[in-house]
Amino acid sequence: MSKRFTIITYGCQMNRYDSETITGYLTAEGYEPGDDPEGADLILLNTCSIRDRAEQKVFSQLGRLRKLKKKNPNLKIGVCGCFATREGERIAKRNGDVDLIFGTQNISKLPEMLRGIEAGRVCDTETVEPDFSELAPIRRSCGPSAYVSIARGCDNFCSFCVVPYTRGPEWSKPSALIVEEIEAAVREGFREIHLLGQNVNSYGKKTEGEPTFGGLLRRLDEAQGLERIRFMTSNPQDCGEDMIGAMAECKKVCEHLHLPVQSGSDEVLRRMERGYTAEEYLAKMALYRERVPGGAITSDIIVGFPGETDADFEDTLRVLKESRYDNIYLFKYSPRPGTPADGMAGQVADEAKDERFRAVQQLQREISEELHRGLEGSVVEVMVEGPLREKAGNSPGGGESGGGLLQISAPRRYMGRSRANHRVHFHFEGPPPQIGEMVEVEVLRGSVSNLGGVALPQGAVLEERAT
Ligand code: 5AD
Ligand code: SF4
Repeated sequence: MSKRFTIITYGCQMNRYDSETITGYLTAEGYEPGDDPEGADLILLNTCSIRDRAEQKVFSQLGRLRKLKKKNPNLKIGVCGCFATREGERIAKRNGDVDLIFGTQNISKLPEMLRGIEAGRVCDTETVEPDFSELAPIRRSCGPSAYVSIARGCDNFCSFCVVPYTRGPEWSKPSALIVEEIEAAVREGFREIHLLGQNVNSYGKKTEGEPTFGGLLRRLDEAQGLERIRFMTSNPQDCGEDMIGAMAECKKVCEHLHLPVQSGSDEVLRRMERGYTAEEYLAKMALYRERVPGGAITSDIIVGFPGETDADFEDTLRVLKESRYDNIYLFKYSPRPGTPADGMAGQVADEAKDERFRAVQQLQREISEELHRGLEGSVVEVMVEGPLREKAGNSPGGGESGGGLLQISAPRRYMGRSRANHRVHFHFEGPPPQIGEMVEVEVLRGSVSNLGGVALPQGAVLEERAT
């Protein structure tokens, strides 16, 4: 009988991509995926240490798994991901019953590590050059969008961030391999790809013979059978005509730019070592808006960075008002051991962080709602992700504000994403749409976090445009 495994994934898209790759290696070795830790022969925790209190989470999960292992002594437990890279030895010391520890750069050695754990514990967190010699045996989770990593690691060393230490230096994946991976995903039925990298727009810079990121987008835009291209994350430092020009020209590249500003204060940005000022950032956004009219911009913001004064924080609010982001990911600064900001003077008290967090959240909610209401009456192209999971108060009129325009019950309600990455809830008449299908939706209501509407009868938009 084949062995069963379960992966518990924490953190970002890159970690989810890594879990899909790990799943590919494990299934190639004859393991079968399963959701139930009770019935598993191998449980892997794919950890993240960017922001979360990864330590507590991982150690308390390991405590639970210890009990499971008492019941089933054949169970093997593994820890991988960012936290394992950084703290492999400590995990090994504290947890005698962990069988396998490996870092984000050692995934391709999984087959030999699996054989090794039969004889005793295996720990491999060495920093090595990623193996780009061939396509990794990835097993993607279902959904219309496929993650494809185009680069590993990061060279930027923003002073708050642990990624350059956990994921190592930046390496661009050969473009030929990226094309091969995307073609394989399209053959599997994926119609949208989501390119991943810590800093996608520095793609190819260190590798002779490779295109720039803009060049890569142009090349991928020609991939047969692919309908949409997204990517994440761009660093404002490397954002310019090369990338924005390609975004404007390439039909498959979606009208959404995630461009994390982090702070609106030049002084804080300097201490974060971000490499741009607020004005330079705003100029890049203006260029994007000029070249991609109607494009949505989202951002990451950190409040409470060491030394952030009330005046610095006011600057962040000002940039937020000027930027009019469609949405933001908002974080309270959390010290990461070993990063320069961890030792900086002027750590901000939790109460001030909470207060600033609430103020940014409130302002952004108003902006998001206004922008989304502005889309009422328009028609957006939506890629279907599946039926809408029922939640009290959900209606096609929109999520949080309750809507109430039409009260239609499942299963005629579905959700998907617009090209600008809006989450769209919509009513659909007739035979259920397929996951990955494109439908035209008339927006009836915009709320803080989503759009609600009705799918137009197929062909209606084309007819209207033809007349
Ligand atoms: N504290 C708070 N937020 C952080 N991020 C990264 N490191 C930290 C930290 N130490 C946020 C940044 C980054 C996003 C992925 O996570 O906003 O863009
Ligand atoms: Fe971290 Fe900065 Fe690299 Fe992003 S660009 S992963 S914030 S060091």
